Amino acid sequence: MEYVTLNTGAKMPLEGFGVFQIPDADECERVVYDAIKTGYRLLDTAASYMNEEALGKGVKKAIADGLVTREELFITTKVWVQDQKTEKAAYEAVKASLEKLDMPYVDLVLLHQAMGDYFAAYRGITKAYQEGLTKAVGVSNFFPSVLANICENVEVIPAVNQVELHPFFAQQEALATMKAYGIAPQAWAPLAEGKHGIFTDPELTEIGAKYGKSAAQVVLRWNVQRGVSILPKSTHVERMEQNLSIWDFELIEDEMKKIGEKDLGHSEIINHFDPQLVKMLNNRKIHEEKENSIPAGLSAFPVGEPNTSTAQYFIGQSYLAPVSTSQVPIFNVTFEPGCRNNWHIHHAKNGGGQMLICVSGRGWYQEWGKEARELHPGDVVNIPAEVKHWHGAAKDTWFQHLAVEVQGEETKTEWCEAVTADAYDKLD
Ligand SMILES: NC(=O)c1ccc[n+]([C@@H]2O[C@H](COP(=O)([O-])OP(=O)(O)OC[C@H]3O[C@@H](n4cnc5c(N)ncnc54)[C@H](OP(=O)(O)O)[C@@H]3O)[C@@H](O)[C@H]2O)c1
Repeated sequence: MEYVTLNTGAKMPLEGFGVFQIPDADECERVVYDAIKTGYRLLDTAASYMNEEALGKGVKKAIADGLVTREELFITTKVWVQDQKTEKAAYEAVKASLEKLDMPYVDLVLLHQAMGDYFAAYRGITKAYQEGLTKAVGVSNFFPSVLANICENVEVIPAVNQVELHPFFAQQEALATMKAYGIAPQAWAPLAEGKHGIFTDPELTEIGAKYGKSAAQVVLRWNVQRGVSILPKSTHVERMEQNLSIWDFELIEDEMKKIGEKDLGHSEIINHFDPQLVKMLNNRKIHEEKENSIPAGLSAFPVGEPNTSTAQYFIGQSYLAPVSTSQVPIFNVTFEPGCRNNWHIHHAKNGGGQMLICVSGRGWYQEWGKEARELHPGDVVNIPAEVKHWHGAAKDTWFQHLAVEVQGEETKTEWCEAVTADAYDKLD
């Protein structure tokens, strides 16, 4: 393992482990324990991941079993937008995180988004830093101009900026700004959350074959070799091991360049420049979510995280969990009672469309001009390309279906109008 020295003088491992989209407490505790056992020493969570308590328990168990000491670990958490409103709210949020983690301090606290009153919030986490509640402060998702502006106006320069960084969104210019201010860049989604066929990409696979490594290992190595710390997430021990086994080979300059050429220049995971997304993240109230929590054990599949990518096309709260990110992409979609998506069309030149496999609760599916069809666990819906339709939960029950993306050429989803309350209320 290699380390980067932060502007505080502390050493941070260049590779860590992220626990985004592991909301189930028992699973998260197990995964954290396994990650430490595998050799990870940096653990990354956030108030909004709803798993700080589970992470804390996993760490405690690993320490009790003699796998590691607290001093050997580097633990990061993040303050959510809801608490980025005032200095006091952000400061109190750090204390609340410590309470959930059951730790007297963390190694790094980040502002999760450049949203809300982030200057006030930054003062709040700086106060926590000055009181020893965190060993360092930093930011996340701060784009170059926003990052430069905060650096020009604060006393304590952020130690880290955690942003999306992988070959398909390389952000070379953002790295230059971080370097100019002495901020350590950290990659979220270093495996692009499995998008772009990253695990089977022929070029990445070919480069890896030369070293006896997988495409995943090649992209992780590419980031650390350009000085970026990485936080791959996996709930599978064999993948945890694979992702950590990147310290015994070195990509040559030509390979580094070739991988960098995959850059699309934009994210296909999240668009921080979309006003609807900003509105949605500002409206996500994590403190209230705990009170209206999702019933346990809806199905064997995970619930995942609140849907941020297409939330503006839904009425009510939905959640997404990747079930498969290779071969055939499959997501588990969870709808709270009354939640449904807008009318939409899956366009494709050839093939395309979607399959729904219902796994829990009761829901509805309707094609334009036809009667709505009631859905129950075990039902399968084949949605052809070019057919306008919507789906969602019944008024009184949670509903889950797996969404299977049918491969096609030039696929694109067109989102249309919402299903009116009048039409929806007639279904029972
Ligand atoms: N600051 C932010 O706004 C922000 C946003 C997103 C993420 N993050 C942080 O960054 C961490 C990593 O990002 P991420 O979890 O979104 O995505 P990621 O690490 O790029 O990808 C995780 C996905 O890849 C799969 N995977 C992992 N290793 C694999 C391998 N060797 N072969 C095949 N599949 C593999 C995982 O599946 P399995 O789990 O099934 O193995 C999971 O579906 C998060 O956990 C979180 O800590 C921060």
